[in-house]
Amino acid sequence: MLFIGLMSGTSMDGIDAVLAEFEDGRFKALLASHHLEYPEALRARLLRLARSDAALSLRELATLEAAVADRFADAALGLLAAAGVDARQVSAIGSHGQTVFHDTAVQPWATQQLGNPSRIAARCGITTIADLRRKDIALGGQGAPLVPAFHHALFANADEPRCALNLGGIANITALPGADPAQVRGFDTGPGNGLMDEWCEQTLGQNYDAGGAFAAGGRCHPGMLQALLADPYFAQPPPKSTGRGYFQLAWVRQRFPTLHTLAPADVQATLAELTVQSIAADIGRYASGTQRVLVCGGGARNDHLLGRLRAALPGCAVQPSDDYGLNANWIEAVAFAWLAMRTLAGLPGNLPGVTGASREAVLGGIYTP
Ligand SMILES: Nc1ncnc2c1ncn2[C@@H]1O[C@H](COP(=O)(O)OP(=O)(O)O)[C@@H](O)[C@H]1O
Ligand SMILES: [Mg+2]
Repeated sequence: MLFIGLMSGTSMDGIDAVLAEFEDGRFKALLASHHLEYPEALRARLLRLARSDAALSLRELATLEAAVADRFADAALGLLAAAGVDARQVSAIGSHGQTVFHDTAVQPWATQQLGNPSRIAARCGITTIADLRRKDIALGGQGAPLVPAFHHALFANADEPRCALNLGGIANITALPGADPAQVRGFDTGPGNGLMDEWCEQTLGQNYDAGGAFAAGGRCHPGMLQALLADPYFAQPPPKSTGRGYFQLAWVRQRFPTLHTLAPADVQATLAELTVQSIAADIGRYASGTQRVLVCGGGARNDHLLGRLRAALPGCAVQPSDDYGLNANWIEAVAFAWLAMRTLAGLPGNLPGVTGASREAVLGGIYTP
């Protein structure tokens, strides 16, 4: 069976679209992939929204919903055209949507993804499954991360304790100590690339630090690193999840007001180290037997970050997931195709041991074309 996965994470770097084949409920092959960037003006609107609590008119919200949905539909249609596959061959689309709000620190917990699924279904002529996070939150869970169940299906190994590490705007780890899904744990460790992206944008006018060269040219400032790591989020036990609304440069300035006195490259090196140290500490605390870390997400292409992770995790192999069955860039999108497959089959998608929900549940809503 063919499913499309559509994902745009907190980096807002654009939409990842994949065509995935499943057989007997299991991932079989990635048949095609396609990345579609947001037009710069739309990206700027979304970033502004995600980084602030600024008032938003209902008109702006409704039109953003439509604009994001159209871009998601364009990504799916572009994928099908490139693959030469007809929409009628596809069982369903799993659309994550664009997260613009996620807060499980203050009650009532809430998460918000944009991208009107009716519009995607109608434009593509394909049943679309979306709103995959809110059922889990309704059941007392974090609604995130949802990818660990798929990480388990893909990477778990009875003979080798592993960890999947997703380096998106936010970083999350999935502890895979063995073959039993009940042992899987997963949570957001804190910032991934998001703070580094923001600093790059502000100081270099670039969306991200290609290869980590900017960070590699600086030196970590221990005082700044310590001030940031003192945030209570890092000590809080899982389940926990966070978002770009919390970990943003305003948060850095609040915790380290003398930021402007540092060389820009040193700030970048320190932000990279914050990502590395918070991840390494959590692997030590909650996945201590890990022998192999499989890195997914765009951060897997940041050589500096991977080098620093290797230094912080001696005795642990750290490598992009590519060598283990699936290209690091597409894992999250394939996970949402997998979740759509589960929902359409009436199967649960969340792991209560990961999100803290009171039970497993069939996630999301089904929108027919
Ligand atoms: N070549 C690269 N070098 C360094 N970082 C990269 C590279 N390619 C992508 N990234 C980082 O990955 C991010 C996108 O990762 P992605 O997995 O799509 O995250 P998200 O799920 O938050 O959208 C970019 O914003 C950037 O920080
Ligand atoms: Mg992305």
